[in-house]
Amino acid sequence: MCGIVGAFRREGGVLDELIEGLRVLEYRGYDSVGVGLLEKGEVVVHRRAGRIEELEKLLEGQRGSEARVGIGHSRWATHGAPTDENAHPHTDEAYRIALVHNGIIENWQELKSELVRAGVVFRSETDTEVLAHLVGRELATSRSLAEALGRALERVEGYYAVAVVSGGSEPELVCAREGPPLCVAATGEAAYLASDVLALLPHTRDVVFLEDGDVAEIAPGRISIKNRETGVVERPVRHIDWDSEAADRGGWPHFMLKEIHEQPDVVARAMFERLDLERGDVILAGEAFSDARLAVVQRVQIVACGTAFHAGLVLRYMIEGLAGLPVDIDYASEFRYRSPVLSPNTLVLGISQSGETADTLAALRLATLLGATPVSICNSIGSTMVRESEASILLEAGPEIGVASTKAFVAMLVAGYLFSVRMARARGTCTKEEGRALLDDLSGVRPGLEHLLARDSVKRIRAIAEAHAGKKGFLFLGRGINFPVALEGALKLKEISYVHAEGYPAGEMKHGPIALIEPSMSTLVLVPEDPVADKVRANVEQVRARGGPVICVGSDPESLALAEDAIEIPNVGRWLSPILGVVPLQLFAYFIAAKKGCDIDKPRNLAKSVTVE
Ligand code: AGP
Repeated sequence: MCGIVGAFRREGGVLDELIEGLRVLEYRGYDSVGVGLLEKGEVVVHRRAGRIEELEKLLEGQRGSEARVGIGHSRWATHGAPTDENAHPHTDEAYRIALVHNGIIENWQELKSELVRAGVVFRSETDTEVLAHLVGRELATSRSLAEALGRALERVEGYYAVAVVSGGSEPELVCAREGPPLCVAATGEAAYLASDVLALLPHTRDVVFLEDGDVAEIAPGRISIKNRETGVVERPVRHIDWDSEAADRGGWPHFMLKEIHEQPDVVARAMFERLDLERGDVILAGEAFSDARLAVVQRVQIVACGTAFHAGLVLRYMIEGLAGLPVDIDYASEFRYRSPVLSPNTLVLGISQSGETADTLAALRLATLLGATPVSICNSIGSTMVRESEASILLEAGPEIGVASTKAFVAMLVAGYLFSVRMARARGTCTKEEGRALLDDLSGVRPGLEHLLARDSVKRIRAIAEAHAGKKGFLFLGRGINFPVALEGALKLKEISYVHAEGYPAGEMKHGPIALIEPSMSTLVLVPEDPVADKVRANVEQVRARGGPVICVGSDPESLALAEDAIEIPNVGRWLSPILGVVPLQLFAYFIAAKKGCDIDKPRNLAKSVTVE
């Protein structure tokens, strides 16, 4: 997903701040980068394919720039290869403006043909350049850059976060949002914009999140916002208590390892001030989570992608098992195109770390359109998903920088467990005493995580991972509530080490995958002590009987004894075993990827949040 930054200073140059802002956004994944500056009223663009270091080489000698206004962009290519010409910013023909963009302009070919017929000469293959020419042409007959941008966007179909800078008599810095996030901030000395709040934190913690349809003009000490539908509008200033240190690696080799080790704290934060042990209940903000509202819910529809989808699969077991409520779950990308039929009184639950995943947002909107009540589990307070939900359970996991999601997954499971207990109490399927016992079980999770993340435990998991690192492929097996954990373990391994791995319900082994078993195919099996432990043990024996190496992760002593390598996890009860079971799988993936020298925090082809289809 592309990164956008912008700055407008009362005094002093902005170039260094733009570069630093782009560095903060590197985790989003990109393949080209650039800046657009107002040098003495003239628009000057510097851009390069590759990493920020390439741009810095290009800027050698420019770092003393006095430009007080500028924008920056890191591009994850969608239209047009990652080349210097396709990198952002793009300008209009007369270099009156420079523009950067995140998103997709769906009618760009039609608009491009119209501009070519009008004699415009294009210099790139991007959809973004079309918008730059439209804005430049509107500027001639507009009273301000904001007006020109608003008029140009009226021609555009698609979604975007856009920032534009122009010279002329007075420097102007404007931005607009329809879909991908954009936030702005102003201090007495300067004004800033960014596609992620993390890039603003070095300057201020008081931030404004733009809404769809907003066009904002910013300058030192000033933010003016106009919405396409409602006209001039004030947006609330939010105080973000994540400081940039929290987003710093803090000495860990990778953000992913740091975030795996944050999980005990994350669990504590996800529970914080939400347990009502006296009433054996859970406190969740939002009227949609009240007894009256939840008691009439007849069905839950979960929509999510990737790791969040795996968390949703776990939640299905929890909600059905604890609250006795039927749950449907779909990949968001499938739900939105299968003409779904929803029952009356359906609650649609969107699960998303970023709250900006295009497919999940679209699925949530569709379900809402079909009459469902939208709620969400999300990590980003200012995200679109939170704003479009009637109520949200915030993960409170802090910024998750590693592209491979770890702590957010664990926080989603805790949030989902709390939601399930709340739902059970509202529906009367669980008494106060039962609710209190379920909440008491949570007290074993943090110590269990700390045990798994202790030095000796991590060292042992690392040794097992490195011993299997050369295998040609991996199977991950689990039953019941731990089947989704098998899927998640396989996803972690494949996305950061590029090794093929598949997650399967253990009971499916005999229906095909068992043909894969051989010494070069390692099988990881989740073996909690639960009602199906004996069946999983039989799966372990079937794999071993065919010469397949087996790694068992869990608390069933007999299965652990059968395995070539065994990782014991504390028994925290059936519903919470996935929270602990996933940690050895996260570390297993991490250490195999580390041994292979992979780019663990920024795996190839991946973005942290997929805000386009
Ligand atoms: C998980 O490690 C991946 N980064 C990816 O599958 C991710 O979970 C998915 O894109 C959903 O993102 P979200 O939670 O921000 O919606």
